[in-house]
Amino acid sequence: MNFYTMLQNLLKLTFLVLLFGSCAKDQIYVTTDEDYQLESLLTQHGGKDNYILPAAENYGIIPQDLNNPLTREKAELGKLLFFETGLALAPMHDFGKETYSCATCHVPSAGFRPGRPQGIADGGIGFGDNGEGRAFNGNYEVTEPDVQGLRPLSVLNAAYVTNTTWNGRFGGNDLNEGTEAVWNEADGSELNHLGFKGLETQNIEGLHVHRMVINKDVLDTLGYTPLFDEAFNDVPEEDRYSPQYASFALSAYLRTLITNEAPFQYWLKGNKTAMSEEEKRGANLFFGKANCSTCHRGRSLNGDNFYAIGVDDLYKTGAINTNADDPRNLGRGEFTQNSEDNYKFKVPQLYNLGDAPFYFHGASKKTLEDVVEYFNEATPENFAVPPTQISAGFKPLNLTDIEKRNLVSFIRNGLRDPNLERYVPEAVLSGNCFPNNDVFSQMDLGCE
Ligand code: HEC
Ligand code: HEC
Repeated sequence: MNFYTMLQNLLKLTFLVLLFGSCAKDQIYVTTDEDYQLESLLTQHGGKDNYILPAAENYGIIPQDLNNPLTREKAELGKLLFFETGLALAPMHDFGKETYSCATCHVPSAGFRPGRPQGIADGGIGFGDNGEGRAFNGNYEVTEPDVQGLRPLSVLNAAYVTNTTWNGRFGGNDLNEGTEAVWNEADGSELNHLGFKGLETQNIEGLHVHRMVINKDVLDTLGYTPLFDEAFNDVPEEDRYSPQYASFALSAYLRTLITNEAPFQYWLKGNKTAMSEEEKRGANLFFGKANCSTCHRGRSLNGDNFYAIGVDDLYKTGAINTNADDPRNLGRGEFTQNSEDNYKFKVPQLYNLGDAPFYFHGASKKTLEDVVEYFNEATPENFAVPPTQISAGFKPLNLTDIEKRNLVSFIRNGLRDPNLERYVPEAVLSGNCFPNNDVFSQMDLGCE
């Protein structure tokens, strides 16, 4: 072989390597049986497109309240207000002032839930790493802390919730049409008469319940007045600096909290390697044999419906200011006053659940394995719930151990957006520590 042919061969070889190298990149992935099966199951469940979450900036297609059209100005203002400990101006004791925020109970790194079964805002101290280190402040009487008798819901994908809270009492439309007679001041549902959607209605009440103050003086002091002016320049000034418009901004922000970077979302958009085979098998069980999708539907895998699956209530976890007779344990029935609705709770969304290990309205389960086992066995754990109330869809699934593992893998990893930090502001205008600002939280959070 002379030098010339050697060179030729070398060039051929390089060409082949380049050719195969580039092919390998594009073609190494072969669509698997799991992919085909999932495509076909999703087609039977309304089509793949019905599960794709929009970009957080795609205001045209994010569900919203016509009274509160989404704008960047509102969403950005809401992003600050949600974390602003400077609004915490109506605590039970002066030393609670400016120590808590909405994000105290909706911690981003805990999937916008608290890091413990019961959220504690006013009356709590400490944060830990993800909110799990929050404890009661011994200087408060036991009846004084801001706590609720239900585990806080995640606010992720809130745009896909029509009527908010576990019993769905907020929102003057959608599922609450026909319930006007039971709207009352005591539970805040009187506000439904304003005719707003669930989020816009609830967050007016939420500011009050969670002991926050919104008025012109407060907004001037903290520096928010110009941001309200930008976001709500079409609202008369005498109405503008109010809980209603703070709620509109908060609601706009919450509508942008979309878990569109989860592996399942990338898979839906065409990247078949985004999920592992195990996660895909789990997804196939979710939409197939395990029947989860009969109740968990739509883009956030929640459901605009209420079912009784007989889980234990929050008082059993040692939570305070709630007990076996708490009317909140009646779920939807507490609100509608219709005994047919008793013990029925809203179907929650399923993204980023691995980030805080407390499941169901009473936080009765501590692992996703236990949740899946609960659905697999379908034996109600709460003896207060009459068997006749339990949903017919809650029935034994006969899953094998491997199937259970796959299902957990889909929920824990396939439905986990790893980048929720993008929804957290760099700083809030008060300059305070956030989401909490008591001295223990300051230490935990590394604020000086
Ligand atoms: C003390 C803890 C705590 C604080 C502080 C808190 N929340 Fe919540 N949040 C909860 C609990 C508990 C629920 C469920 C309540 C229920 O079902 O009755 C909830 C539910 C919600 C929901 C309903 C989600 C759904 O899917 O229905 C929204 C929205 C919400 N909170 C927004 C906020 C906003 C905005 C703030 C600040 C103004 C806030 N929260 C402050 C505990 C808290
Ligand atoms: C009959 C309707 C129904 C079916 C079927 C169903 N779910 Fe649920 N799911 C619910 C309801 C309702 C809740 C809230 C119950 C409560 O807390 O009282 C819930 C809660 C959950 C939670 C806890 C979420 C949280 O924030 O605490 C997970 C996880 C879950 N379901 C996963 C599944 C899986 C996996 C399947 C299939 C094996 C499934 N679900 C089947 C109705 C259903």
